[in-house]
Amino acid sequence: MKTVAIIPAAGSGKRLKSKEKKPFVLLGGKPLIAYSLEALAAAKYINGIIIAVEAESIERLKEIINRYGFKKVIGIVKGGKTRTESVRNCFRAIDKPCDIVLIHDGARPFPETRTIRDSIRYAKKFGGCVAARPATDTIKLVDKNLFVERTLDRKYLWSAQTPQTFRYDILKKALSRIKGNLNMTDDACVLERLGKTVKILKSSARNIKVTTKEDLKIAEALI
Ligand code: C5P
Repeated sequence: MKTVAIIPAAGSGKRLKSKEKKPFVLLGGKPLIAYSLEALAAAKYINGIIIAVEAESIERLKEIINRYGFKKVIGIVKGGKTRTESVRNCFRAIDKPCDIVLIHDGARPFPETRTIRDSIRYAKKFGGCVAARPATDTIKLVDKNLFVERTLDRKYLWSAQTPQTFRYDILKKALSRIKGNLNMTDDACVLERLGKTVKILKSSARNIKVTTKEDLKIAEALI
C-alpha cells in the first residue's frame, strides 16, 4: 500500500505575531516545520511527502530539508490563498495515483506514531479518518449577534485536528467537486459534502497546533 503525506504550511501565521514566518519559527532551537516533517518521515508506512509553503519560502524550506536530510520529500509547491487550495495544490503534485493520502498541518509538531499509523488503517477501512479530541468545553451555538441559540450535546462533539487521512480516489473526487468555496478549515469537510464516511480517531492531547505565542510556549514546555 502506498501512502503520500501532504503538509499544508502556507498560512500567513499572522496570529503568531512573529517577525519570522511560522514554518521557520524556532521551537527548541529547531524550525517548527522540521517537527512535522521528522514525524512523518519517520513513519515507515509513509512513502513520500509533499509540502505547500508561500512562494517566498520555498528556497528556505529546501535548505531545511537538505540540512535535516528529509529524503522522503518528493515535492514542494506554492500554497494557495486558503488551506483547501494549498491542499489541492499538493494533491495535484502527486505524480501517480497512490492508495492513501494523509494530510497533516505544518503547525502541529507532535503527531504520535500511533495516530499516524491508525489514521492510515482507518482511511483504508472507512474511506476517511480525522484525528480529533473530545470537546472538553460546553459548546454553544449562537446567532450572528452572539446570542445563544442552543447548547450542543458534548457527548457528540469532537475538535478536529490532523492527520486527516483519505483513500486517494475518494479525496480526488471530493477535491474535483469543490467549486467556488475553497475555504474550508479542515479536509474532511470536502468528503462530508459528498456524503462519504469519515471516522474519528482519538488523538493525543500533545497533538496541539501552534497558532499563537502562547501555543509556542506550550509546545516548548511539551518538548
Ligand atoms: O489557519 P489554520 O491554523 O487552520 O492553518 C492550518 C494549517 O494550514 C497550517 O499549517 C497553515 O500553514 C496551513 N495553511 C496553508 N495555506 C493557507 C492557509 C493555511 O497551507 N492558505
